Amino acid sequence: MKKILITGGAGYIGSHTAVALINAGFEPVIIDNFSNSEKSALAGLNKICGREITCYEVDCLDRSGVEKVFLENDFSGVIHFAASKAVGESTRLPLKYYANNIDSLLILLETMSKFGVKDIVFSSSCTVYGQPKELPVTESTPRQDAESPYGNTKKICEDILRDFILSGVDSRIVALRYFNPVGAHPSSEIGELPIGVPANLIPFVTQTAAGIREKITVFGNDYDTTDGTCVRDYIHVMDLADAHVKALAYLSVQKLNFYDIFNVGTGRGNTVLEVIQTFEKVSGQKLNYEIGPRRSGDIEKVWANTDKINKVLGWEAKYSLEDSLRDSWNWQMKLSGKKN
Ligand code: WQD
Repeated sequence: MKKILITGGAGYIGSHTAVALINAGFEPVIIDNFSNSEKSALAGLNKICGREITCYEVDCLDRSGVEKVFLENDFSGVIHFAASKAVGESTRLPLKYYANNIDSLLILLETMSKFGVKDIVFSSSCTVYGQPKELPVTESTPRQDAESPYGNTKKICEDILRDFILSGVDSRIVALRYFNPVGAHPSSEIGELPIGVPANLIPFVTQTAAGIREKITVFGNDYDTTDGTCVRDYIHVMDLADAHVKALAYLSVQKLNFYDIFNVGTGRGNTVLEVIQTFEKVSGQKLNYEIGPRRSGDIEKVWANTDKINKVLGWEAKYSLEDSLRDSWNWQMKLSGKKN
């Protein structure tokens, strides 16, 4: 069985990808420093998989720790999720973000080369597009100046991968530009575990519906959109996980020294108010929300053109926004100890 290293594999997208890898006949091996994930997530993951997934508590900045994992495992490929990802925090702690997100990739690439591991799928983000002039965005839409140090680390990491391949190494790399990951595994055994007050919309919505937050503020309704609120492409985390499995399969049949980039979104955009209305419909919960001022750094609207990933990887999103919000709500109720 082919072993795949998942860095940050105890996290939200990493844990769902571990499930998808098992279902596709791979053997995932996780490294995680648990800085933005909880060990309890592993219990849910193991329950879904029906067995214990190997997990090393290792920081990707710890070169000797990473090398030890490669010494103990013969990896066919790597999926690199581990990174700091909070946009707001990155503007307050830019040096932490540049050090963590960039140095961890450099250490990983050097370790892969040292052990002859050639295939890597990299977790990038639509944030590299900034506010695109053309919509929906394609992979050739020019990248804009990043809105945050977090977004800039994703652009820099993509440049590192490009230059690494241009140097002629026998590596094969895919960067996946995620849009907005939402939802949870239908079993409600794993899902998003935001630490503290959620920065992202969906966990804030579900926590407000669960009574954990008093109300949700919609950041601005004076944008040039159908209802004045921002538009995003909300993709179910299970669809996102499946895209990683398909990216690995794609890499395995490419010539060596290869790099490609794919948008991973639904191809549909929804406004914040549409998300709230859809959530109320699928959950039966009335949401307490108010319109507030714009959030600095927010872009007005972005959603994916998914022609390339559809054609080249044979992947498309299967879950709807309703599915995503229903799964997010079921997960929240599980977390809050409520039976649905
Ligand atoms: C979505 C929309 C907000 C909260 C960022 C990163 C992206 C990825 C996901 C890491 C926006 C509005 C939100 C709230 C609101 N990060 N909103 N009230 O900013 O599109 O993407 O997080 O993986 O790379 O850029 O996601 O969920 O924060 O916001 O009105 O309480 O919801 O203004 O329009 P975002 P988000």
